[in-house]
Amino acid sequence: MKLLEGKTAIITGASRGIGRGIAQVFAEQGANVAFTYSSSVEAGNALEKELKDVGVNAKGYQSNAASFEEAQKLADDVVNDFGSIDILVNNAGITKDNLLMRISEEDFDTVIEVNLKSVFNMTKAVQRTMLKQRKGSIINMSSVVGVKGNAGQTNYAASKAGIIGFSKSVALELGSRNIRSNVIAPGFIETEMTAKLDEATVKGWREGIPLKRGGTPEDVANACVFLASDLSAYVTGQTLNVDGGMLT
Ligand SMILES: NC(=O)c1ccc[n+]([C@@H]2O[C@H](COP(=O)([O-])OP(=O)(O)OC[C@H]3O[C@@H](n4cnc5c(N)ncnc54)[C@H](OP(=O)(O)O)[C@@H]3O)[C@@H](O)[C@H]2O)c1
Repeated sequence: MKLLEGKTAIITGASRGIGRGIAQVFAEQGANVAFTYSSSVEAGNALEKELKDVGVNAKGYQSNAASFEEAQKLADDVVNDFGSIDILVNNAGITKDNLLMRISEEDFDTVIEVNLKSVFNMTKAVQRTMLKQRKGSIINMSSVVGVKGNAGQTNYAASKAGIIGFSKSVALELGSRNIRSNVIAPGFIETEMTAKLDEATVKGWREGIPLKRGGTPEDVANACVFLASDLSAYVTGQTLNVDGGMLT
């Protein structure tokens, strides 16, 4: 028996990186997958085909997670196309790193809107459907940086810490309706986002991690399967660090 058989998942930001890994692993576990991206239409089309080849229902949507209206439309479209929404993975995220001295107001606001407001937008958009179904699992992608802070990432760390507070509050508000809300805080996961870093920094990070390697999208996806599936039926309001022991 596959762990997500018959469930429909929305995954934001799945054209590449961690989101793509989650979409692939969810499909292997039998989930029907609705996923979004911002601009990568070709990668989105390729992923849609790849997921359908696994034998599940899949569709990619170009949708800006930072837009309240687009999030609402996306949730409506997914209900029309798939019939239900059982799992929401708020994964879409960006970085615009700079020291506080140099960071612009625009770069602060953009990161908060794409990383944090998007979580509000999407959670609100799926809430009615999950309430009607009397079940749902929401998984929000934070970061170890949201737990610990990081020099040069005030905007990103604030957005990722905000996700943890939001997610715990949703767990308290919607627990009585069997809607669970949890956070994953990945450490150093090797994707395009981290490929922007210089090799010396990357080498230093790998050496500092107790498991002595960067994580893969699949490492994060496997933790998402646990939180999305009924295996975690009694787990809500939690933050799971998927970081090779980095924060230990
Ligand atoms: N990589 C790490 O080490 C790491 C560590 C901790 C946490 N995280 C978090 O994990 C998540 C995924 O990271 P990643 O490394 O996989 O990033 P990535 O490779 O840069 O991919 C980001 C994804 O988000 C999408 N996206 C960006 N802005 C969007 C928007 N406004 N609306 C909808 N989709 C949008 C992108 O779509 P397009 O392709 O169309 O641009 C892409 O699919 C992020 O929330 C990130 O903060 C990553």
